[in-house]
Amino acid sequence: MANSKQQSEVSLVDLPAHVAIVMDGNGRWAKKRLMPRAAGHKAGVGALNKIIESATGLGVKCLTVFAFSSENWNRPKLEVSILMDLFVSSIKKYLPELIKAGVCLQFIGDRSAFSEKLIRSLVEAEEATKSNTRLKFNIAMNYGGRWDIAAATKSLLEDVQSGSVSTDDVNEELLSKYMSLSNLPEVDLFIRTGGEHRISNFLLWQCAYSELYFTDVLWPDFNGEEFVQSLQWFSSRQRRFGRTGEQVETESDSRKVGKH
Ligand code: FPP
Repeated sequence: MANSKQQSEVSLVDLPAHVAIVMDGNGRWAKKRLMPRAAGHKAGVGALNKIIESATGLGVKCLTVFAFSSENWNRPKLEVSILMDLFVSSIKKYLPELIKAGVCLQFIGDRSAFSEKLIRSLVEAEEATKSNTRLKFNIAMNYGGRWDIAAATKSLLEDVQSGSVSTDDVNEELLSKYMSLSNLPEVDLFIRTGGEHRISNFLLWQCAYSELYFTDVLWPDFNGEEFVQSLQWFSSRQRRFGRTGEQVETESDSRKVGKH
């Protein structure tokens, strides 16, 4: 669990409601240690477990991680198969802890390409944690932001075709209801480890107004302290959502006055 020093360092008022993470750098972490890439992915699972503990300890309500992209099928067959096995074994290993910690698991992405065994373990994990409310923890697997938008559009078109939705009602708000994670707030803070400054087709719709945080730290080395640093950076950002800096400052001053 996150220690009390970490908790006191972050102003809870400024916590992002939803954090998304691209966990990059497992391969390089392993290479530096002359280990196989699989060892990097295994260490990556350990890092993820620590961040879930930090997030629950600090009071972050939603966390979404990119575990396997629609494009990751292009990796060597052996690595893909190792990753698939790691998903099954990690879910089995950590599920009891996640249940105890009050974590609600949800998997997003196209499951149709997965083995029956993996699909079963995803469904079981979702079922076993569905009434938990402490942390909504979403794992994106065989996921792509463009896939998400296309799948949402397809479902919406089906509803238009069946007559349950009128074309005149189609707008951003309605389409967003068809997207993955429509049950959660939009992403406030997007973190990418491993030194690259790219979104890589993750949560394109849901990250429209996210603050983007990039760090050179390789994912297996990303720990509670690094996570707190990213939250501190987030709390120093002025979020304008299209308004001017002056407007935001005036509004925040009047909110402060209202508090007294
Ligand atoms: C990117 O690093 C990492 C991945 C493609 C896999 C991430 C998966 C995990 C951390 C396991 C998560 C497990 C569960 C159960 C959710 P990379 O391999 O591209 O690293 P590199 O850029 O250094 O080569």
